[in-house]
Amino acid sequence: MVTHRILIVDDDPLIRRQLEDLYRERKYDVDTAGTAEDAMSLLEEYEYSLAVVDLKIPGTDGISLTKQVRERWEDLDVIIVTGYASIKGAVEAIRHGASDYITKPFEREEILLATEKVLEKRRLLDEISYLRNQLSERYSFANMVSRNVVMHEIFSTIEALAQNDATVLISGESGTGKELAARAIHFQGRRRTGRFVAINCAAFPDSLLESELFGYERGAFTGAVHDRIGKIELSSGGTLFLDEVESISLPMQLKLLRTLEQREIEKLGGNRIVKVNMRIITATNRNLEDMVERGDMREDFFYRINVVPIDIPPLRDRIEDIPLLVAEMLRANPLGRDREITKVSNKALQSLMSYHWPGNVRELANVIERSILKTAGSTIKEVDIPGTINAPGASTAARFKDYDLPLKEFLKRAEREYLSTLLKRNRGGIATTAEAAMIDAATLHRKMKLHALKREDFKEVAKAI
Ligand SMILES: Nc1ncnc2c1ncn2[C@@H]1O[C@H](COP(=O)(O)OP(=O)(O)OP(=O)(O)O)[C@@H](O)[C@H]1O
Ligand SMILES: [Mg+2]
Repeated sequence: MVTHRILIVDDDPLIRRQLEDLYRERKYDVDTAGTAEDAMSLLEEYEYSLAVVDLKIPGTDGISLTKQVRERWEDLDVIIVTGYASIKGAVEAIRHGASDYITKPFEREEILLATEKVLEKRRLLDEISYLRNQLSERYSFANMVSRNVVMHEIFSTIEALAQNDATVLISGESGTGKELAARAIHFQGRRRTGRFVAINCAAFPDSLLESELFGYERGAFTGAVHDRIGKIELSSGGTLFLDEVESISLPMQLKLLRTLEQREIEKLGGNRIVKVNMRIITATNRNLEDMVERGDMREDFFYRINVVPIDIPPLRDRIEDIPLLVAEMLRANPLGRDREITKVSNKALQSLMSYHWPGNVRELANVIERSILKTAGSTIKEVDIPGTINAPGASTAARFKDYDLPLKEFLKRAEREYLSTLLKRNRGGIATTAEAAMIDAATLHRKMKLHALKREDFKEVAKAI
């Protein structure tokens, strides 16, 4: 699928020729250079997967060339060619980033094996550009991309839901794509000509939520100077999406339950009954069964909304999606497209794939957007990626001790850690923190309360530093 281009750097024309023939036979693209200077200008011009460099080249030596090359092209692999007498030099070159060395005189098989070993490791990097071309076909479904089995089952479920009006409960951590899935259900289904009306139930206190949902008639309460149509009525004929459904109070659950069962509403302050007809989709990042057990959710309400459950796995459980999502994000980002940023270095991708992503796909999108801003060339390098991802302790492996916790507790801690980091960075600023986390201010307030985080504490920290 990808043709590799190899650069041979050797002052001995015989060796150059020998290597060139060998690689061409194997269908690699090959260029040769006799000096370090020629090598550098070729590197500027073409994109190589591998440089095969003689340890002793005029003007410089293989070690400094390797160093120089690896500083500019983080992902370029280098194989050093050396005589027996200078193996020590080759080992030194490996310390400076060479991938392997071979000794002269070499066997054909030996050099081909070393080459293939090195190229095999480049799979991830090449995958990004490969996947970009696959996006429209196998791996994407209604604005969602994934190559994960569980996600593909979800795609099939959504496809099946197009044929009916079944009520759907979407669960998953923050940023996993719950709203995206809800929209897919609506826009794939036969109600797509109706409205998709979303309401974040956590963003309103009880009294306001009621008037948002049910609407009111003029004079229903002080300040109700006009009739107001509620979200439920608005969604009639289409889909009503109740986000963060866990935050609905018990009395409101009862009121909603009646509506869902009878398919009619009574507006506040009115005595008119309005018939409604819509699909209901709810979303939550909580375990609702636990809430029912604790008495925080009505059992009848839970059963009424949990007809078809869809549980979206967190990003850390489907890291194979990371290259694909990154490819999609690069393609969709106007700046990335303008500047033709089409690649992510292997090292950068590896650090993205070992991070634990408490904020899931949304956090990844955020990181890629910032990286695009920092990147100078056409490849996102490790240095372009925000520090938190690479920080010690950020990787899943480093957090292994946390894995003894129950899932819920683990997630709660991760969320708290994430929010306090962002609050610290933004010196307790609510608007800026909410923006960085890509949640709204009301959600941030609620989560801060849940985790007992006070903005004053973060102002202090900033002052102390
Ligand atoms: N599979 C996917 N493919 C492409 N983009 C995705 C995918 N999943 C999520 N996203 C993107 O990630 C972001 C977060 O998705 P979304 O808002 O649907 O998450 P959510 O689960 O509703 O989050 P929250 O719980 O915080 O409300 C959006 O920009 C969305 O487009
Ligand atoms: Mg959402």
